[in-house]
Amino acid sequence: MVKLQTPLPELITDPATIGALIQETRKQGKTIGLVPTMGALHDGHLSLVKASTAQCDFTVVTIFVNPTQFTDKNDLTDYPRDLQSDMDKLAGWEVRFVFAPTAEDIYPHDHVTSVHVGPLEKIVEGRCRPGHFSGVATVLAKLFQIIPADIAFFGCKDYQQLKVVERVVQDLNVPIKVHGCPTIRDEDGLALSSRNVFLSQEQRQQALSIPKALKLAERRIEEGETDARTIVADMRRELSRSGALHIDYALLADAETLKPTRTVKGPTVALIAVRVGSTRLIDNQVMMP
Ligand code: PAF
Repeated sequence: MVKLQTPLPELITDPATIGALIQETRKQGKTIGLVPTMGALHDGHLSLVKASTAQCDFTVVTIFVNPTQFTDKNDLTDYPRDLQSDMDKLAGWEVRFVFAPTAEDIYPHDHVTSVHVGPLEKIVEGRCRPGHFSGVATVLAKLFQIIPADIAFFGCKDYQQLKVVERVVQDLNVPIKVHGCPTIRDEDGLALSSRNVFLSQEQRQQALSIPKALKLAERRIEEGETDARTIVADMRRELSRSGALHIDYALLADAETLKPTRTVKGPTVALIAVRVGSTRLIDNQVMMP
């Protein structure tokens, strides 16, 4: 991606300070774009930054590894963290502020309130990771308060997360527009993810069956297949080819509610989660029959 020669983003760690800076920016009549991340930035995140700078006067990137959305404590401990490298990656992308608070700043010891998103937090990915989407919804509700932006940018790769955010914003009357950006893939088709760094060469090859299975589902629907069980069986066969993946789920769901699809009629999403060794990968493909 082409970078511009622009000033370095300013690193802010204190919620009150970023709040005051955002107030000031709003008084100047500037529009603010928010890109929430957990760091370990890659081109997928940078595509969100690019969308934000194209649509808003000021862009704020948050970097916060949110403990409440991790169901597995080892996953939280092992999550890649390198603030300096993230700051370097953001240089030249017209990002005005990077907000990187501590866990204590976001969750003081007396913090007790959390956000729940009904059935949406319990299905598909939520079934594998109980509490995950409540953690995501809670931290985003807090970030939207601290940084009252005009538009918040999210990747469609975390499809259920995008639906959760849309729900939170609608149900809590948060005056922010949610913008979903397309999944960015490597040339071989693997969706970019901060977790890809954990894959060996061999595991990466095995992981390529994920985009292949999604493409296959898309093709089967284009060919006129409407029986979800048949399509899912094809997806699972493709995923099982390498023999080394553990399939957490491979399914078709309604693209809006994420309820399971039996017969493909309207907008449908194919959702996959697999484990390759100890690395868990998710991906999806939205399809319009
Ligand atoms: O997608 C992520 O990186 C996180 O889930 C998010 C949206 C920053 C919330 O912690």
